[in-house]
Amino acid sequence: MNLKIDKMKEQEATLARPVRHCGIFAKLLFGGMDFIHGKKLTYPKIRLLELLARIPYQAWEVRQYRRLNCKYEKDSVVGEAKDIIQWGRAAQDNEFWHLEVIGEKIRQDGVKLKWFRDRFLPPIAAFSYNLFSRFLAWVNIQAAFKLNADFEDHAEHEYFTFVQQNPELENQPINAEVVTKYGDFNNWADVFRRIALDERDHMNNSLLRCGRAKEVVKYLQEK
Ligand SMILES: [Fe+2]
Ligand SMILES: [Fe+2]
Repeated sequence: MNLKIDKMKEQEATLARPVRHCGIFAKLLFGGMDFIHGKKLTYPKIRLLELLARIPYQAWEVRQYRRLNCKYEKDSVVGEAKDIIQWGRAAQDNEFWHLEVIGEKIRQDGVKLKWFRDRFLPPIAAFSYNLFSRFLAWVNIQAAFKLNADFEDHAEHEYFTFVQQNPELENQPINAEVVTKYGDFNNWADVFRRIALDERDHMNNSLLRCGRAKEVVKYLQEK
Protein backbone atom coordinates (compact mmCIF):
# COMPACT_ATOMS: atom_id res chain seq x y z
CA MET A 1 0.00 0.00 0.00
CA ASN A 2 1.46 3.35 -1.04
CA LEU A 3 -0.82 6.06 0.33
CA LYS A 4 -0.13 9.72 1.06
CA ILE A 5 -1.32 9.71 4.63
CA ASP A 6 -2.52 12.84 6.38
CA LYS A 7 -1.64 11.89 9.96
CA MET A 8 -3.50 14.84 11.49
CA LYS A 9 -6.75 13.86 9.78
CA GLU A 10 -6.22 10.21 10.75
CA GLN A 11 -5.78 11.36 14.35
CA GLU A 12 -9.12 13.18 14.24
CA ALA A 13 -10.79 10.14 12.68
CA THR A 14 -9.41 7.78 15.32
CA LEU A 15 -10.41 10.02 18.21
CA ALA A 16 -13.92 10.23 16.76
CA ARG A 17 -14.07 6.43 16.49
CA PRO A 18 -14.98 4.50 19.64
CA VAL A 19 -12.53 1.89 20.86
CA ARG A 20 -13.35 -1.68 19.96
CA HIS A 21 -15.70 -3.58 22.22
CA CYS A 22 -13.10 -5.81 23.85
CA GLY A 23 -13.20 -9.17 25.52
CA ILE A 24 -12.44 -10.11 29.12
CA PHE A 25 -8.71 -10.78 28.56
CA ALA A 26 -8.17 -7.39 26.94
CA LYS A 27 -10.05 -5.69 29.79
CA LEU A 28 -7.87 -7.47 32.35
CA LEU A 29 -4.74 -6.45 30.46
CA PHE A 30 -5.72 -2.78 30.23
CA GLY A 31 -6.96 -2.82 33.83
CA GLY A 32 -3.62 -4.22 34.97
CA MET A 33 -1.67 -1.48 33.17
CA ASP A 34 -4.01 1.19 34.58
CA PHE A 35 -3.57 -0.28 38.06
CA ILE A 36 0.23 0.00 37.82
CA HIS A 37 0.49 3.35 36.00
CA GLY A 38 -2.89 5.07 36.38
CA LYS A 39 -5.34 5.80 33.55
CA LYS A 40 -3.32 8.59 31.92
CA LEU A 41 -0.67 7.69 29.38
CA THR A 42 2.89 8.51 30.48
CA TYR A 43 6.28 7.58 29.03
CA PRO A 44 6.86 4.78 31.57
CA LYS A 45 3.39 3.41 30.73
CA ILE A 46 4.13 3.58 26.99
CA ARG A 47 7.37 1.73 27.67
CA LEU A 48 5.44 -1.08 29.40
CA LEU A 49 2.89 -1.15 26.58
CA GLU A 50 5.64 -1.53 23.99
CA LEU A 51 7.45 -4.18 26.03
CA LEU A 52 4.26 -6.26 26.01
CA ALA A 53 3.25 -5.47 22.41
CA ARG A 54 5.97 -7.64 20.85
CA ILE A 55 5.16 -10.76 22.88
CA PRO A 56 2.09 -12.21 21.04
CA TYR A 57 3.88 -12.06 17.68
CA GLN A 58 6.79 -14.02 19.12
CA ALA A 59 4.37 -16.57 20.66
CA TRP A 60 2.64 -17.07 17.30
CA GLU A 61 5.98 -17.54 15.56
CA VAL A 62 6.98 -20.25 18.06
CA ARG A 63 3.56 -21.89 17.69
CA GLN A 64 3.89 -22.02 13.89
CA TYR A 65 7.31 -23.67 14.06
CA ARG A 66 5.79 -26.30 16.40
CA ARG A 67 3.03 -26.95 13.86
CA LEU A 68 5.59 -27.38 11.12
CA ASN A 69 7.41 -30.03 13.19
CA CYS A 70 4.62 -32.50 12.51
CA LYS A 71 2.77 -31.07 9.48
CA TYR A 72 5.61 -29.94 7.23
CA GLU A 73 4.31 -32.08 4.34
CA LYS A 74 0.98 -30.20 4.16
CA ASP A 75 1.26 -27.28 1.75
CA SER A 76 -1.71 -25.44 3.28
CA VAL A 77 -0.19 -25.57 6.78
CA VAL A 78 3.25 -24.52 5.50
CA GLY A 79 1.71 -21.59 3.60
CA GLU A 80 -0.30 -20.40 6.58
CA ALA A 81 2.61 -20.84 9.00
CA LYS A 82 4.95 -18.95 6.66
CA ASP A 83 2.49 -16.06 6.42
CA ILE A 84 2.10 -15.79 10.21
CA ILE A 85 5.86 -16.13 10.83
CA GLN A 86 6.77 -13.42 8.28
CA TRP A 87 4.11 -11.05 9.52
CA GLY A 88 5.01 -11.77 13.14
CA ARG A 89 8.69 -11.04 12.54
CA ALA A 90 7.95 -7.75 10.77
CA ALA A 91 5.57 -6.71 13.56
CA GLN A 92 8.12 -7.60 16.25
CA ASP A 93 10.73 -5.45 14.49
CA ASN A 94 8.26 -2.61 14.26
CA GLU A 95 7.34 -2.85 17.96
CA PHE A 96 11.04 -2.85 18.79
CA TRP A 97 11.44 0.44 16.88
CA HIS A 98 8.65 1.88 19.02
CA LEU A 99 10.44 0.73 22.17
CA GLU A 100 13.73 2.28 21.05
CA VAL A 101 12.07 5.57 20.14
CA ILE A 102 10.28 5.73 23.52
CA GLY A 103 13.55 4.94 25.27
CA GLU A 104 15.16 7.88 23.47
CA LYS A 105 12.34 10.24 24.50
CA ILE A 106 12.62 9.09 28.11
CA ARG A 107 16.37 9.82 27.98
CA GLN A 108 15.95 13.24 26.33
CA ASP A 109 13.25 14.37 28.76
CA GLY A 110 15.12 12.98 31.76
CA VAL A 111 12.02 11.05 32.86
CA LYS A 112 12.65 9.48 36.26
CA LEU A 113 11.96 5.73 36.27
CA LYS A 114 10.95 4.09 39.53
CA TRP A 115 12.75 0.93 40.59
CA PHE A 116 9.71 -1.14 41.61
CA ARG A 117 7.27 0.07 38.95
CA ASP A 118 9.61 0.45 35.98
CA ARG A 119 12.39 -2.06 36.63
CA PHE A 120 11.02 -4.80 38.89
CA LEU A 121 7.45 -5.21 37.57
CA PRO A 122 7.95 -5.11 33.74
CA PRO A 123 9.93 -8.38 33.49
CA ILE A 124 7.29 -10.10 35.64
CA ALA A 125 4.49 -8.68 33.46
CA ALA A 126 6.35 -9.72 30.29
CA PHE A 127 6.97 -13.24 31.63
CA SER A 128 3.30 -13.70 32.60
CA TYR A 129 2.02 -12.28 29.30
CA ASN A 130 4.43 -14.51 27.40
CA LEU A 131 3.11 -17.64 29.13
CA PHE A 132 -0.47 -16.55 28.50
CA SER A 133 0.20 -15.66 24.83
CA ARG A 134 1.83 -19.03 24.18
CA PHE A 135 -1.05 -20.86 25.84
CA LEU A 136 -3.67 -18.91 23.85
CA ALA A 137 -1.78 -19.40 20.58
CA TRP A 138 -1.75 -23.13 21.32
CA VAL A 139 -5.42 -23.55 22.24
CA ASN A 140 -7.06 -20.95 19.98
CA ILE A 141 -4.95 -18.78 17.70
CA GLN A 142 -8.04 -17.02 16.31
CA ALA A 143 -8.81 -15.79 19.83
CA ALA A 144 -5.17 -14.70 20.11
CA PHE A 145 -5.50 -12.60 16.93
CA LYS A 146 -8.74 -11.06 18.22
CA LEU A 147 -7.15 -10.19 21.59
CA ASN A 148 -4.23 -8.61 19.76
CA ALA A 149 -6.60 -6.55 17.58
CA ASP A 150 -8.19 -5.20 20.78
CA PHE A 151 -4.74 -4.47 22.25
CA GLU A 152 -3.56 -2.63 19.12
CA ASP A 153 -6.76 -0.60 18.80
CA HIS A 154 -6.37 0.44 22.43
CA ALA A 155 -2.74 1.43 21.71
CA GLU A 156 -3.72 3.49 18.65
CA HIS A 157 -6.30 5.43 20.64
CA GLU A 158 -3.88 5.89 23.54
CA TYR A 159 -1.15 7.37 21.31
CA PHE A 160 -3.45 9.80 19.51
CA THR A 161 -4.99 10.88 22.82
CA PHE A 162 -1.48 11.39 24.19
CA VAL A 163 -0.57 13.67 21.26
CA GLN A 164 -3.77 15.63 21.70
CA GLN A 165 -3.16 16.08 25.45
CA ASN A 166 0.47 17.14 24.97
CA PRO A 167 0.43 19.91 22.31
CA GLU A 168 4.02 20.92 23.17
CA LEU A 169 5.15 17.82 21.22
CA GLU A 170 4.24 19.70 18.00
CA ASN A 171 7.17 22.07 18.64
CA GLN A 172 9.76 19.56 19.79
CA PRO A 173 12.27 18.91 16.97
CA ILE A 174 13.84 15.54 16.24
CA ASN A 175 17.52 15.32 17.09
CA ALA A 176 18.18 11.62 17.58
CA GLU A 177 19.53 9.10 15.08
CA VAL A 178 17.30 6.30 16.34
CA VAL A 179 14.24 8.39 15.45
CA THR A 180 15.47 9.49 12.02
CA LYS A 181 16.19 5.83 11.23
CA TYR A 182 12.61 4.95 12.19
CA GLY A 183 11.23 7.58 9.78
CA ASP A 184 11.20 11.12 8.46
CA PHE A 185 9.42 13.37 10.97
CA ASN A 186 8.87 17.08 11.57
CA ASN A 187 8.49 16.86 15.32
CA TRP A 188 7.76 14.46 18.18
CA ALA A 189 3.98 14.69 17.74
CA ASP A 190 4.49 13.40 14.20
CA VAL A 191 6.54 10.46 15.57
CA PHE A 192 3.76 9.43 17.96
CA ARG A 193 1.17 9.76 15.19
CA ARG A 194 3.21 7.37 13.06
CA ILE A 195 3.45 4.91 15.95
CA ALA A 196 -0.33 5.14 16.42
CA LEU A 197 -0.86 4.29 12.74
CA ASP A 198 1.58 1.37 12.98
CA GLU A 199 -0.65 0.06 15.78
CA ARG A 200 -3.65 0.41 13.48
CA ASP A 201 -1.83 -1.63 10.81
CA HIS A 202 -1.12 -4.29 13.45
CA MET A 203 -4.80 -4.32 14.41
CA ASN A 204 -5.94 -4.60 10.80
CA ASN A 205 -3.57 -7.48 10.10
CA SER A 206 -4.81 -9.26 13.23
CA LEU A 207 -8.44 -8.76 12.17
CA LEU A 208 -7.80 -10.10 8.68
CA ARG A 209 -6.34 -13.28 10.12
CA CYS A 210 -9.25 -13.99 12.44
CA GLY A 211 -11.95 -13.59 9.80
CA ARG A 212 -13.00 -10.06 10.76
CA ALA A 213 -12.16 -8.23 7.54
CA LYS A 214 -15.31 -6.10 7.89
CA GLU A 215 -13.90 -4.56 11.09
CA VAL A 216 -10.68 -3.37 9.42
CA VAL A 217 -10.19 0.41 9.79
CA LYS A 218 -9.37 1.94 6.42
CA TYR A 219 -7.19 5.03 5.88
CA LEU A 220 -9.17 8.10 4.83
CA GLN A 221 -7.63 7.97 1.34
CA GLU A 222 -8.90 4.41 0.86
CA LYS A 223 -12.54 5.32 1.54
FE1 LIG B 1 3.95 -0.42 19.35
FE1 LIG C 1 1.44 -2.81 17.80
